[in-house]
Order: sequence, then C-alpha cells, then structure tokens
Amino acid sequence: MVGMTKPLHDLRVFLSALRRRPAAIGAIAPSGPTLAGLLASVAPSTGEPVVVELGPGTGSATRALGRRLPATARHLAVEIDGELVEHLRTAHPGLEVVHGDAAHLAKLLAERDVQQVDAVISGLPWALFPEELQRAILEQVGAVLAPGGAFATFAYVHALPMGRARRFRALLAESFDEVIVTRVVWANVPPAISYICRRPVVRTDAG
Ligand SMILES: C[S@@+](CC[C@H](N)C(=O)[O-])C[C@H]1O[C@@H](n2cnc3c(N)ncnc32)[C@H](O)[C@@H]1O
Repeated sequence: MVGMTKPLHDLRVFLSALRRRPAAIGAIAPSGPTLAGLLASVAPSTGEPVVVELGPGTGSATRALGRRLPATARHLAVEIDGELVEHLRTAHPGLEVVHGDAAHLAKLLAERDVQQVDAVISGLPWALFPEELQRAILEQVGAVLAPGGAFATFAYVHALPMGRARRFRALLAESFDEVIVTRVVWANVPPAISYICRRPVVRTDAG
C-alpha cells in the first residue's frame, strides 16, 4: 500500500476480489459513503450493542459503523473471501473478522459466544443468489436478531426488475413484519435503495 491512498488501495483490493469471484461480489465498485452511512444508521449508537456485517467486502459499511458505534460495542463481520478477510484484518484492527459463509451465521456467532445481535448489516449480492441461499441466509438473520433489532441491506436500482431481485424483495416481506424501502441514493455507483427490516417472522432452530 506504500504510496497509495486508502480509497485507491481499497479499490484495488475490490477489483482483485471481483476478478477472482465475480459471482460472490456482484458490484462494480465498493458502496459509497452515503449508502454505507444509511445502512449503518440502523445500528445503536449507545449502550453495548452487538452488530454483525455480512459480506463486508473492502469495508465501506465497516468504516461507517466504526464512526457510529460506541467504544463499548462488539462489531463482527462475516466474509467468505480469504483475501478480503486478510485486508479487513489489517485495515480494521478492532473488527472481529470471521472467515465464513453467511449461510452459517448462527453457528459462526455461537462459536464466538454471541447468541443475539442488535443489528445485521449486509453487503451481500442477493440478486446473484439462488432462492435457497437467499432463504437460508434470511432465516439465519431472523434466528440471531434480538427483539427490537434491525436488518439493513441494499439493492441496485437498475437490477430491481430482475427476477431474483424481485423474489428477494418478496422474501423480505415474508420474513419480516416491517420492511422499509428507503429513498434512492443517487450518489452511489450504481444508484441503490436500501431495505430496513424489523421483527423477523421466520424463526427456525437454524444453526
Ligand atoms: C457487493 S460486495 C460488498 C461490497 C462492499 N459493500 C464494499 O464496499 O466493499 C459482496 C461481498 O459479499 C461477500 N460474500 C458473497 N457471498 C458471501 C457469503 N455467502 N458469506 C459471506 N460473504 C459473502 C463477497 O466476498 C463480497 O465481499
């Protein structure tokens, strides 16, 4: 990273991950600060919250959460790509980076003595996932979210008409009592909306 600014270094790490695993990344650039801030706003800024990110990538939402969370918070991130895991561990020493699959969220958290979390923030590329994987991960989120907790994720506006994106939106409505669709963040590349979900209605013995 010598001689390189942090955003440029992040972009290089992101593009390298995109080349290696295009089907797991599903974006052309890291989330911008406005979208990241919107997602992070569901995390409590006081008390001793436990917050988990799914698919943090190069850490856009990680940075926004780092600015928002109190020093007493526990901040975990589940990332499937080994090189991104290394990048996150170096760039965010206070972050508990878990190298694993979000589909095993409850088990990964239980291994770290976490049974419930106050917020789940996702950077996962839902529109690339088959329905079973979308369902499996949403069930895991529902299983670990504390009463009063929130789940935040996003979708690219241009992809909203796609079948998998529409099915994901319908799955959210099935899985949560409340789903709020936010304004379009036009400043993001590409423009995106976010979904803020509360009160999971799908509770399983997942994990
Ligand atoms: C769209 S990128 C996240 C971009 C991120 N917002 C950023 O700014 O860098 C999606 C991320 O989800 C990760 N991912 C994909 N499938 C996953 C899974 N099943 N479990 C955990 N992480 C996963 C990818 O490796 C990638 O880092």
